[in-house]
Amino acid sequence: MIMRPDIHLRQAAISLAYALLNLTTGTRATSSPLTPTPSAPTRYTGPSEPHRSLSTTAHNRYQRRRQRAASGRRRLLTPWVLLSLAAPLIAHGETSATPAFQLGDICPASFENQDGGCVLRNRYREYRSLRDAGVGGLKTGLPPLREGFTPQQIDLGRYLFFDPILSADGSVSCASCHDPAKGFADGRGQAVGIHRQVLPRSAPSLWNVGFLSTLLWDGSKSSLEEQMQGPLYSPFEMGNTPTQLLTTLNANPVYRALFEQAFSRSPIALDQIYTAITAFESSLISLNSRYDLYAHGYHEALTDAEIAGLNVFRSFVARCAECHTPPLFTNQQLAVLGVADAPGELIDTGAEAITGDASQRGAFRVPSLRNIVRTAPYMHRGQKPTLEDAARFYTGGRGHEVPEGESVMIHWHIWEPRLTDAEITSLTTFMGALTDEAFMPEIPKVVPSGLPVTQGQKPMAGNSDGFGAQ
Ligand code: HEC
Ligand code: HEC
Repeated sequence: MIMRPDIHLRQAAISLAYALLNLTTGTRATSSPLTPTPSAPTRYTGPSEPHRSLSTTAHNRYQRRRQRAASGRRRLLTPWVLLSLAAPLIAHGETSATPAFQLGDICPASFENQDGGCVLRNRYREYRSLRDAGVGGLKTGLPPLREGFTPQQIDLGRYLFFDPILSADGSVSCASCHDPAKGFADGRGQAVGIHRQVLPRSAPSLWNVGFLSTLLWDGSKSSLEEQMQGPLYSPFEMGNTPTQLLTTLNANPVYRALFEQAFSRSPIALDQIYTAITAFESSLISLNSRYDLYAHGYHEALTDAEIAGLNVFRSFVARCAECHTPPLFTNQQLAVLGVADAPGELIDTGAEAITGDASQRGAFRVPSLRNIVRTAPYMHRGQKPTLEDAARFYTGGRGHEVPEGESVMIHWHIWEPRLTDAEITSLTTFMGALTDEAFMPEIPKVVPSGLPVTQGQKPMAGNSDGFGAQ
């Protein structure tokens, strides 16, 4: 709210400055908006400021800028006055040493440019897969990936993903809850949204999410474009509206230029925002862990202890691989495990709340186990603090956490495997071999809005993170 009039004013000043510059020097305007004038002082210090609450830091900053812009207009409208006003604003978000924002024109690591679009190169693509579902043994193909996006679209999505300008008050970005340092989850049992509101579920990892066609813990979304409108417009997560999102981005000259580069169309439209973020999410590939080397035939890649764990994982006793099927370690189906939300309580009814089907009471989408060591605590509400606790759940006995009086239909693969402590340890050791972050994208130090790049949210004092959560 505070931002809009200010942004309009800046934008008007910038356009006018360039129009006048063109008249006086004949410079072409097309290349200029992204190029800060080298001699102009960079007064903007936003990104280096600590991220404090918006009502103090950011508000004051906006007030200062608004006053600056207003007093500038009252002065003589010579190009130089306007330029000195506009240049620091064009450089908005950049320090004097960093170059202007430019979208990368090379596909991310492991992708190859085919006819302008980035296509994944991966060994698993040489294997076949039953019904193209990506479900099966060690040498099983992958399900289809969302791919073919241009390098520019992927790179634009990267900026958007880390930019809190996507939220109503500039305080929350996608990365606030999907932090690359925490496997693109947030290390909490329950995610924390705008105004530090605590959500009912945990934020899942986003590694390999471009392969998934069943999204969310309750499996209620089937495309990334559709899914992201949840957090963007939820008053508990990013609190934005489609109109405000478009107005804010279109008022930002840097974003306008970047969207133009990525889509050759203006003004910025909602579908372009969704496409760019989808492109970025689909580039998060983690398929080169030591386990994968082993699966491709390099047996030395795993230790004896890890191979023992893999054998337990695939055994008919533990049955883990029935649901956490390689290579993604999820078959993307819903299953009822009967994990209690709090001792003796089942608050979250899972897929039943979506479909109304009583047999899906407490059913959740099988999560992938890729980079699982990074994303504690575990389960839909972070009920299990450690990976070992999560593995131990399966040997607690069928339905052992189901509250009395609850009737849930536990999945037939959840049984009484009577795993020994050694086998639990071995499972945990094996899951540790599923770690691969080699294709971690570069985290932008500054984003086009100039707002601080957010990662991680603090809940309001007094709110619980859910039992067992760290
Ligand atoms: C306030 C925290 C928060 C923010 C901000 C947030 N997410 Fe999430 N995200 C979650 C939670 C919690 C879930 C799981 C929700 C559920 O299943 O009900 C989730 C689920 C997802 C999923 C589904 C993953 C899967 O395995 O099914 C994707 C994809 C995703 N988020 C992408 C995004 C994108 C893109 C943005 C920014 C536009 C974003 N998220 C912003 C917390 C957040
Ligand atoms: C019937 C299908 C099924 C079987 C068999 C199964 N799982 Fe799961 N697994 C799930 C579902 C569904 C969840 C999410 C449950 C929830 O959040 O309430 C889950 C969650 C997990 C998690 C937490 C993941 C996260 O991101 O929070 C781990 C770890 C895990 N399972 C490991 C195992 C191991 C080890 C085995 C074998 C002993 C196993 N699973 C067997 C379906 C299954």
